[in-house]
Amino acid sequence: MGQRAALVTGASSGIGLAIAEMLGEEGFGLTVAARRADKLQAAADGLRDNGYDVQQVAGNLGDEDTIKAVAAQHAERFGRLDVLVNNAGVGFGELVGDLTTKKVDLQLNTNLRAIFLFYRECAPLLKVAGAEHANALVVNTSSISGKVGEAWLSVYSATKHGVVGFTQAMNKELAGDGIKSTALCPGFVDTPMTAFVKEHVPAETMITPRDIAESVRYLLKTSPGCVIPEIQFLQPGGGALPGIG
Ligand SMILES: NC(=O)c1ccc[n+]([C@@H]2O[C@H](COP(=O)([O-])OP(=O)(O)OC[C@H]3O[C@@H](n4cnc5c(N)ncnc54)[C@H](OP(=O)(O)O)[C@@H]3O)[C@@H](O)[C@H]2O)c1
Repeated sequence: MGQRAALVTGASSGIGLAIAEMLGEEGFGLTVAARRADKLQAAADGLRDNGYDVQQVAGNLGDEDTIKAVAAQHAERFGRLDVLVNNAGVGFGELVGDLTTKKVDLQLNTNLRAIFLFYRECAPLLKVAGAEHANALVVNTSSISGKVGEAWLSVYSATKHGVVGFTQAMNKELAGDGIKSTALCPGFVDTPMTAFVKEHVPAETMITPRDIAESVRYLLKTSPGCVIPEIQFLQPGGGALPGIG
């Protein structure tokens, strides 16, 4: 087998960047995607400084054409796809009576619709990898609010529940193709996304992006007969989040 390859969305910061770093360490060729080009450029340059083989594709993953372009550019550059990480996501806190349609659509399109479309676009190459080693992997970043609905974060919670359900469905549908899927369900992780809550929940008490990345390293090493449908990550004593996250 030549160099394996991975595609990571939302890889310009936080959890996605930590997973991309881990995959680089493991020798994967990488396509990294995220919305803002300048931020993604800086992240990709950092990965290349570590000696990793990286291409970046910037764009809004709420847009179908961008998703098609990311998948196509990955295929063109690497010719194979062993690991797909659907991690890009956004969250907006709003009470149900005040929901802003634009924010509802942003969360649905980024957190959920993009994952459906990435599976569709990437299925051919994932199936080739699955036929080769029976261990193609798709990691979908959900949230602990994908397990327990949260007030104020109702739409975000609904999208993240959708990620868990879609992941379960993919494990049934793609079982014969050597493609395994895992939903990651963390509580508060110390990333830019949780900046709004760090006044109340100190960053140093949060789960680290590296914690999440190490779990994906483990997933890479499971045998073809072992599927991990989801992993929950909690702060000590934590269950549901205190109203947010
Ligand atoms: N931090 C937490 O406590 C926590 C907990 C549970 C789950 N999660 C989930 O973890 C994932 C990663 O979040 P994070 O905490 O690492 O936050 P982050 O540092 O803000 O990273 C989010 C990433 O997603 C990208 N992104 C957002 N909207 C996008 C769009 N429309 N198109 C393309 N890329 C887009 C961002 O790029 P730009 O910055 O350019 O937009 C960035 O690369 C998300 O799915 C989030 O819901 C986070």
